[in-house]
Amino acid sequence: MTDTKRGSQARQTVPVLFREEGVVAAERLVPIIETLKDPHSPVGEELRLLRANLRAIRQKRPQKRQLGCLAVVSALPGEGKSTISLGLAAALAREPGHRILLIESDLRRPGIAHQLGLSPHPGLGEWLNEGLEPVPVRFVDPGGFFLLSAGATPLERAEDVGSARMDALLQAGREQFDLVLLDATPILPVADVILLQDLVDGFLLVVRSRMTPRAAIHDALGRIRPEKVVGVVLNDHREYRSSYMAYAYHGYGMRAGSELRSVGGSARSSGHTEGDGEEPGR
Ligand SMILES: Nc1ncnc2c1ncn2[C@@H]1O[C@H](COP(=O)(O)OP(=O)(O)OP(=O)(O)O)[C@@H](O)[C@H]1O
Ligand SMILES: [Mg+2]
Repeated sequence: MTDTKRGSQARQTVPVLFREEGVVAAERLVPIIETLKDPHSPVGEELRLLRANLRAIRQKRPQKRQLGCLAVVSALPGEGKSTISLGLAAALAREPGHRILLIESDLRRPGIAHQLGLSPHPGLGEWLNEGLEPVPVRFVDPGGFFLLSAGATPLERAEDVGSARMDALLQAGREQFDLVLLDATPILPVADVILLQDLVDGFLLVVRSRMTPRAAIHDALGRIRPEKVVGVVLNDHREYRSSYMAYAYHGYGMRAGSELRSVGGSARSSGHTEGDGEEPGR
């Protein structure tokens, strides 16, 4: 069965209802969200730039809704996917009237609830295990986005992250939110992103400065369809540490990349990558 047929069948057979559970207060200050409140923060500025780049990329598409669901991915663990997902979701949510759904779709090492200081909450795992209806989403303050947590119980079948049920969930999300953002797993250690790739409209590839080996980016782009990568984000870029130390936000440096034109991870992607460092373990 083709992906399109599988998707449309899922849309007909799996009813998806979201239940908005009200506001949940983050128990921890998340630095990347805080940067958005400071008009002088260079990181806040980079997030606004990333938001603007994303808007421009979406508007270029023939149908705006075609990029209604994006996954934040990286080649290796620990490159900053959860951090960038949080910052981008909060930046997008600051646009008046925009409803952003952030999904903690890394069910192996979920990082969003932890960074917000929230305890595990029934969510995606339980819903995919078919033990939960409807889909619970919480409005996170500060942040201003809706969160679907990874859940409190593990996934019974690892492959369900790419199932028709997941497809139906994302389709309903596209219809009910202005953008659905998935904080995903790294590409190389596990198959989840490959399973997800027909279900999402595009990937944002996070590359950590001085850490991600070029070969890892190349291998990662070999595992997914490179045309699905709509942009790269260079995270933890040192330039800001030296030039903006006075702003006291040196803990996070990042740079938003433009749309990838080349495939296979050569020219543009390696141009954004500084490191040829050692490959970290998962
Ligand atoms: N620009 C940065 N500057 C300093 N620390 C950072 C930066 N980006 C991320 N970190 C820190 O690096 C660690 C890994 O970041 P994060 O959890 O966002 O990565 P991840 O890609 O989601 O990891 P995983 O693959 O394990 O899910 C966290 O402790 C985070 O606070
Ligand atoms: Mg993470």
